[in-house]
Order: sequence, then structure tokens, then C-alpha cells
Amino acid sequence: MENVKIKVEINGENKIWEVPVNEKLLDTLRRYGYKSVKKGCGEGTCGTCTVLINNTPVNSCIIFSVSVDGCKIMTVEGLGTVNNPHPLQSSIVEAGGVQCGYCTPGFLMSAYALLLKNPSPGIDDIRRATDGNLCRCTGYVKRVEGVLLAAKKMRGEK
Ligand code: FES
Ligand code: FES
Repeated sequence: MENVKIKVEINGENKIWEVPVNEKLLDTLRRYGYKSVKKGCGEGTCGTCTVLINNTPVNSCIIFSVSVDGCKIMTVEGLGTVNNPHPLQSSIVEAGGVQCGYCTPGFLMSAYALLLKNPSPGIDDIRRATDGNLCRCTGYVKRVEGVLLAAKKMRGEK
């Protein structure tokens, strides 16, 4: 299979990647070490593979990598670290809204995209923005409370 070179900005870093023309972005990301991106259904329905392309959440399992040439990509690796978590990450923990390692990254990306667009989202905004991230193992309330708390912190409120 033919390989092509693409240029991307990922988590603030410029990279040149060599990708097979038929490779999906999910597989390219994992191959280059962005292991926060998880493969669930592999067909665009569960949201575990969600990343941001130019600040918009997409299911990376159904996007060809060649189509993101020149784009800005963000994964959870670009959000925060264990020692220096983003307020969204710390708020989800504080609210008890953490899901499993498979489901949390995609949920964080969808929630972060919402907060970029809307610093003061309501409960319904959060539900709508994350409805493509299917698992609800921690229920329907705490994860939403976590995003509300994050929005508050990001607005600089106590
Ligand atoms: Fe991509 Fe399920 S793995 S949407
Ligand atoms: Fe991951 Fe439900 S399967 S939290």
C-alpha cells in the first residue's frame, strides 16, 4: 500500500507523518504513540476515539489520516498530565465523574471542545456535546457536574 507524508500540528507540535493512504486517523495516532486515543466500536458510534481536529470533536476511527494533512489535532496528551492536570481533568475527578480509561479520553475531548466554544455551558449543552460518547458507567449526573465545575474554574470563579 502506498504511503504519503502529511504535516500536522498535534498538541502544539509540528510533525510530519508517513501514513498508508487507507489508514484511519485512530490507527495513525496510536502508531505514533498517542495511546489516549482508544478503539471501541471502530465504526463511528461509541466516541472512545474522539479527538479534536481544528477544535472540532471527530471520531478518529472513521477519518482517513490523509484527510487531516495541514490540520491541528488535539488528544488528551495535549490537555494535561498526571502531575499537572487541566482544570477539566481535575474537576471530573473532584465530581466523581471519572469513567474507565477507555471512555474518559473521548469524553474529555468532547467536553473540552464545548468549553472552547462556550465558557458557560448549561446542563443540556453538556449533555448534547457529549452524547456521542456512549458509556454512562458513572451515571448521568456526576460527569455533567464535573464539566460545570471545570467551566467555573476556567472562568476564574471559586
Ligand atoms: Fe471510533 Fe467507536 S472507536 S466511534
Ligand atoms: Fe468505560 Fe463504562 S465502559 S466507563
